[in-house]
Amino acid sequence: MNYQIAVIPGDGIGPEVINEGIKVIEAVQRHIPGLSLKFTRYKAGADCYRETGIPFPKEAYKACIEADAIYLGAVGYPDVLMLDGTEIAGEVVLKLRFDLDLYAGVRPIKLYPGIDSVLKGRTAGDIDYVILRENTEGLYASRGGGNLLRGEVATDTMVLTRKGTERIIRYAFELAKKRKGAPRDGRKRVTCVDKANVLKSYAFFRKIYDEVAGDYPDIDRDYAYIDAMVLWMNQIPEHYDVIVTENMFGDIISDLAASTVGGMGMAPSGDIGDQHAVFQPSHGTAPTIAGKGIANPIATILSGSMMLEWLGSRHRDAQALEAAQKIEEAVTRVLAEGKVRTPDIGGSAKTWEVGDAIVERL
Ligand code: IPM
Ligand code: MN
Repeated sequence: MNYQIAVIPGDGIGPEVINEGIKVIEAVQRHIPGLSLKFTRYKAGADCYRETGIPFPKEAYKACIEADAIYLGAVGYPDVLMLDGTEIAGEVVLKLRFDLDLYAGVRPIKLYPGIDSVLKGRTAGDIDYVILRENTEGLYASRGGGNLLRGEVATDTMVLTRKGTERIIRYAFELAKKRKGAPRDGRKRVTCVDKANVLKSYAFFRKIYDEVAGDYPDIDRDYAYIDAMVLWMNQIPEHYDVIVTENMFGDIISDLAASTVGGMGMAPSGDIGDQHAVFQPSHGTAPTIAGKGIANPIATILSGSMMLEWLGSRHRDAQALEAAQKIEEAVTRVLAEGKVRTPDIGGSAKTWEVGDAIVERL
């Protein structure tokens, strides 16, 4: 099938890593006649804001809405701020999540062969879980709407709705159904992460988790308060299969989780709704290494594989699914061989050399 992909390379290392992601998809589709993704790049982000005064131009936004999927690098710089003191990323990344109702933040955490984990003794296969981050409400619901009173008091309100909570938890159980269970015991498991011991909103989250879990008797229930969770993610990562949590908690634990599988350069993501989806690495623009050609493109390349998988399931397109799998296999092989890798994971290769090595494998 043919797909139109709207690309926002963004700022910092965004364009460098997105180039490799596109290179890899274009390579895989050369071997799969009938599969065609057409990439069109649009300007948006902090550089765009600096040049034009507009963070997310209308034509880029419109193209995102009309595209079959959106492929994004990274957006924002710490010193380019909106009037309320927040970064430009909100005007692009969060705007897309909210406007297009991309409620499922899907963040796979997988330790690949040849990657050193900061966790002692863990090798490939030991860590393989997915964080499901609620993406449209929670503490982020207040974005742009918090209050600052007389320079003395600031508030942002957390919002959890039944609809928003139910659909992300259901997504988590449906995903667990398709996976092969936790590495430690092969059990399919959905872990509910909250702070139900203190806040009403999180107790509500947990109550809805229990309601939804009732529909999935073959999947293990599992609970963790957020504070204990960050301990267990380090101590028993092999226990986890699918983790579901509120927006802000999901944001925080996804970076912790990435640290256990080689760092942010190894963490892909999809922001998925019923009609639209954005695929992007979980990392940011990394301004300190931008332009040096040393950014790790693996997270972006794996996000490209997730994009193909999503397109494939959505359109019942076996070729897109095949392409997704081929990319993941090629990434796995290149990492296992260990010859071509960027400095963050212990090598000395350039960003584009990693892309080239994966293309060669394909
Ligand atoms: C993420 C990022 C974003 C977030 C930023 C860039 C707005 O940290 O995708 O995890 O806070 O959600
Ligand atoms: Mn984050």
